[in-house]
Amino acid sequence: MPQLRVHNFCISLDGFGAGPDQSLDHPLGTGGERLHEWVFKTATGLAMVGGKGGTTGIDDEFLALGEQRVGATIMGRNMFGPVRGPWSSDPQWQGWWGPNPPYHHPVFVLCHEPRESIRMEGGTTFHFVTDGIERALERAHDAAGDLDVRLGGGVSTIRQYLRAGLVDTLHLSIIPILLGRGERLLDDGLTGYRTTRFVASDEAMHVTMTRV
Ligand SMILES: NC(=O)c1ccc[n+]([C@@H]2O[C@H](COP(=O)([O-])OP(=O)(O)OC[C@H]3O[C@@H](n4cnc5c(N)ncnc54)[C@H](OP(=O)(O)O)[C@@H]3O)[C@@H](O)[C@H]2O)c1
Repeated sequence: MPQLRVHNFCISLDGFGAGPDQSLDHPLGTGGERLHEWVFKTATGLAMVGGKGGTTGIDDEFLALGEQRVGATIMGRNMFGPVRGPWSSDPQWQGWWGPNPPYHHPVFVLCHEPRESIRMEGGTTFHFVTDGIERALERAHDAAGDLDVRLGGGVSTIRQYLRAGLVDTLHLSIIPILLGRGERLLDDGLTGYRTTRFVASDEAMHVTMTRV
């Protein structure tokens, strides 16, 4: 049965999935970009942004795993971009990823402001969902068919799906840095998961948890 999976969601040692003060210049909040530095050292991470080379090994393996058998993605509006409030304040905003985003499937963006879907190059279409997490999941599963749905982030979105008990697999990449402030992921007393894989590279501790 198709699953809802979180992959390569990075948190700092002190538990933050984004630093404070997200903005156009600091998509991951102040200091938060350090959470993703390892991604762009790997072959898979570099290929996603049109680059070549990069490392193979544990980190690359986990990144590649996150792409496999995924037919749709769900994300929160803050992960989609820096625009807050009415979309009309910046109608041109089409996500951080340029004209050909690295999804290549339907992406469902949770938000409170309705907006027309945006068809991008390479098979990605952004759909804006204003009627809640369950409806977004339903639409994502419908779009993905036999494939799984990936829950991309950010923090608030993953927390909601965890609280609702809807996440089947939660893979966290724990980065050995301290952010001190920002958006914390695991503050809701999460239970009902067991660790099914734990391995560390020079860059990250990878912990995979599966819903019991
Ligand atoms: N560490 C990682 O690996 C990783 C991965 C992905 C993203 N991130 C980072 O995480 C940060 C974003 O996380 P975040 O917690 O600030 O926000 P988020 O989860 O991306 O988005 C939250 C926003 O989405 C909308 N939303 C969420 N749930 C909703 C619901 N049930 N109904 C309607 N709208 C809903 C709301 O927007 P409105 O009310 O404005 O409509 C809400 O303010 C960014 O800095 C991003 O770069 C980190």
